[in-house]
Amino acid sequence: MTDTRIAVEARGLVKSFGTNRAVDGVDLTVEAGTVYGVLGPNGAGKTTTISMLATLLRPDAGTARVFGHDVVRESQIVRQLIGLTGQFASVDEKLSATENLMIFSRLLGLSRTDARRRTSELLEEFHLTDAATRPLAKFSGGMRRRLDLAASLIAQPPLIFLDEPTTGLDPRTRGQMWDTIRRLVARLHGAADDAVPGRG
Ligand SMILES: Nc1ncnc2c1ncn2[C@@H]1O[C@H](COP(=O)(O)OP(=O)(O)OP(=O)(O)O)[C@@H](O)[C@H]1O
Ligand SMILES: [Mg+2]
Repeated sequence: MTDTRIAVEARGLVKSFGTNRAVDGVDLTVEAGTVYGVLGPNGAGKTTTISMLATLLRPDAGTARVFGHDVVRESQIVRQLIGLTGQFASVDEKLSATENLMIFSRLLGLSRTDARRRTSELLEEFHLTDAATRPLAKFSGGMRRRLDLAASLIAQPPLIFLDEPTTGLDPRTRGQMWDTIRRLVARLHGAADDAVPGRG
């Protein structure tokens, strides 16, 4: 059953690559409507942990649930509930911002009209409207990160994983990214409260 209060619950997650135990028994509980940060040095296993929670890697041991759904046994349901912005941008360099968002929207099953509407909403929200038709090859690092985040929000999932969303951004762009993230959480949290009677 879908649990709307606990976004992520992991117990004893383990992942090894050969003899390298990259993730060694991670426990975490993330409440819905919050921003949860995982810190660690390079190679600590942050990306590997996100990959398991986002159903891209199968844990060797332990369990993880997203809104109550097991990431291994119910991976299809989990995928419908999450967005993922990877550590390395997943957008196509040769295409413009508009084209990238249109393709993602269409792949997610939006009609042409809905895809156009969602694309222009996201371009506006992430201050990319002026640059929308330029190929990404001419985008700055910050613009790319913003487009990447926009792409993970097309389907408006209740949970998004951001792998180093502000790495390489200048202080101002970093501040804007955090503002955007906080705004999203406030909006999602409001929506979750509406959906759960007796909670506020
Ligand atoms: N596909 C893979 N095959 C083999 N080893 C891997 C693979 N992915 C990660 N590793 C190893 O697992 C460990 C954890 O890597 P991971 O990418 O999860 O770290 P991280 O905390 O995200 O680091 P960074 O801060 O550099 O992004 C590292 O020792 C890395 O070399
Ligand atoms: Mg990483």
